[in-house]
Amino acid sequence: MKISQAEYRQRRDRLMEKLGQGTAIVQSAPTAVMHNDVEYVYRQDSDFFYLTGFNEAEAVAVFAPHHEEHQFILFVQPKDPEKETWTGYRCGVEGAKELYGADATYPISELDEKLPQYLEKCDRIYYHLGRDHHFNEVVLNHWQKMMQGYSKRGTGPQALENIHPVLHPLRQVKSEAEIDLLRKATAISAEAHNRAREFAKVGHYEYQIEAEIAHTFRLQGGMGTAYPSIVASGANACILHYINNDQQVQENDLILIDAGCSYEYYNGDITRTFPVSGKFTPEQKALYEIVLAAQLKAIEQVQVGNPYNQFHDTAVRTIVEGLIDLGLLVGDIEEIIKEEKYKPFYMHRTGHWLGLDVHDAGFYKVGAESWRSLQPGNVLTVEPGIYIGPDIKPFEGQPEIPEKWRGIGIRIEDDILVTENGPEVLTAAVPKLIEDLEY
Ligand code: GLY
Ligand code: MN
Ligand code: MN
Repeated sequence: MKISQAEYRQRRDRLMEKLGQGTAIVQSAPTAVMHNDVEYVYRQDSDFFYLTGFNEAEAVAVFAPHHEEHQFILFVQPKDPEKETWTGYRCGVEGAKELYGADATYPISELDEKLPQYLEKCDRIYYHLGRDHHFNEVVLNHWQKMMQGYSKRGTGPQALENIHPVLHPLRQVKSEAEIDLLRKATAISAEAHNRAREFAKVGHYEYQIEAEIAHTFRLQGGMGTAYPSIVASGANACILHYINNDQQVQENDLILIDAGCSYEYYNGDITRTFPVSGKFTPEQKALYEIVLAAQLKAIEQVQVGNPYNQFHDTAVRTIVEGLIDLGLLVGDIEEIIKEEKYKPFYMHRTGHWLGLDVHDAGFYKVGAESWRSLQPGNVLTVEPGIYIGPDIKPFEGQPEIPEKWRGIGIRIEDDILVTENGPEVLTAAVPKLIEDLEY
């Protein structure tokens, strides 16, 4: 299962339709050092990968729809048998042209020499000013040189424009092939969660449960974790990005697992929270019921045409109602929501786009005021939670939280495909109802 070359071509065509007279420049991801001379496994930049399927570092893709000869140009590392013996296969200049459908390919060392011909006649450069300041400077220098020659040439880029607003709306609507890969990534993620839950016992260390997850991800052909797995027992669940995973699970703990598999670059992102001893305590159960109700109601709001924010607002309202019923928040519900007095308990948003990036590319708003409407093919997470940290500080005028509630953290997260027939929960294979978690 992979994205076909025909689909990559279609993506480039769709981008180039939007570029008009512009030229787009997209850089590959850098390599990253783990320690000394050991590097992390290379992972291509998602924009670069979306447009090319090319997974090597030190590469630059150029899209020049107005150019007479070449519209898709790749600069890549040339073949170097000696280096490849040590660091692995390179596709090379010829190979990149043959395998990836570029109209022209060059060694990356020729970028400065070859790039101007693709800029001379464009009216703007589409580029994302990113973290690589050196490459930012390369692009800016080319732009500057082009502007210097403008008076004699009469053509050349007059503006530098962010590529994200033209590229990311494409990534935001998934094709059938992308949905298939997301189904696979989420199915493996779900299998791993089920294995980990069945394995988990009092006395295990969190990392042992994490190992069960990692096992399934690789066994099933995943690239590995989409992000560092969170296996948080007891009060650790109140730390949103807890990744130490080094504590021993205690009697009556809840375990919060937030883990997702990456499959052919597409990511799953699932959270479940369950009682390790097979029974929720009354306080755990009361809070879990609120989070579950919030999640189920929020998922119902994932409908074509609904503004993006609607499912978040629904989750917040359900959580606030629940916390008022338990006496953990007091006052008028509208005021609590408006003044965000629930934030000591629920401090993050209810979801995000999901795809090639876990927090995927795409816009949430249209202008400052309006939220985007959901479209078929959007994929997003719905992940409300309640976190009552041991040292929780309620808002002024709100009650102190009795000890029995402290140290409980709960989140439930599913991955949802927006369809004309309503929300499709891609991760439904992991149980979340109380009767399915208790034994
Ligand atoms: N695991 C990251 C997130 O849930 O957003
Ligand atoms: Mn998430
Ligand atoms: Mn998550």
